[in-house]
Amino acid sequence: MDDKTFDQTTAQTWIDAIEKPGQTQRDKDIYPRLNTWLNVYGAKHVLDLGCGQGICSQKLLGYKTYEGVDPSPYLIARANERYTGDNITFTEGNAYQLPLEDGAFDGVFSVLVFHLLEDLAKAAAELGRVLQKGGSFCLITTNPEAMEQWAAFYENCNIDGKRLSGTMDLDGKPSEDVLYFHTIEDHQSALKANGLHMYGADMFRPATDTDNRKENTPLLMLIAGVKL
Ligand SMILES: C[S@@+](CC[C@H](N)C(=O)[O-])C[C@H]1O[C@@H](n2cnc3c(N)ncnc32)[C@H](O)[C@@H]1O
Repeated sequence: MDDKTFDQTTAQTWIDAIEKPGQTQRDKDIYPRLNTWLNVYGAKHVLDLGCGQGICSQKLLGYKTYEGVDPSPYLIARANERYTGDNITFTEGNAYQLPLEDGAFDGVFSVLVFHLLEDLAKAAAELGRVLQKGGSFCLITTNPEAMEQWAAFYENCNIDGKRLSGTMDLDGKPSEDVLYFHTIEDHQSALKANGLHMYGADMFRPATDTDNRKENTPLLMLIAGVKL
């Protein structure tokens, strides 16, 4: 497995990208979907898996407690610096081995993280372990049908099966990425093996003309479901 977690340079590039003034794309598509998920399923004690610099703690409305987990100490430090609150906690940890109690949450969500994970089965096992029976999950990740569209973002792009590696220009800074385009069936079977029932997959964020894509295939996918 060659997953790489964010080093300090990549973490700072991510912070700059998220905290840059005038960022509206996520306000239009990611956060409304997350809030719909929270409202529909009614989770109160939520885990943000791979929370980055913690922005979702502010964008999600209506939870009682929020815990963000991320393997990058740099991003966790930034999260703690920016977003404090009695009901908000940030902890260092990896999706493959969460430093959390069994059944500690009635909602688990993850934004733009699952495509960084090579081993879906291992991540799904941990997700299933920390989620209560009847609790819900929401995963926002890359659309597996949009590998070609994603490849257009990268220089020195190399594709090997479901794995894409390359260099993306993130606001003038190079980001060396490795992405995995796991299919819907890959997700479904990894989740199912851990008692997690997937209701469906919703594709969103169409590529625009300026992205120089051949087709208007949505770039992202949302998977939601419950623990049976
Ligand atoms: C694109 S950022 C998204 C951050 C945040 N979810 C958001 O949308 O604002 C990807 C995040 O995944 C985290 N990550 C990478 N590998 C991970 C792993 N094995 N377990 C948990 N998080 C991971 C990175 O540290 C980074 O914060």
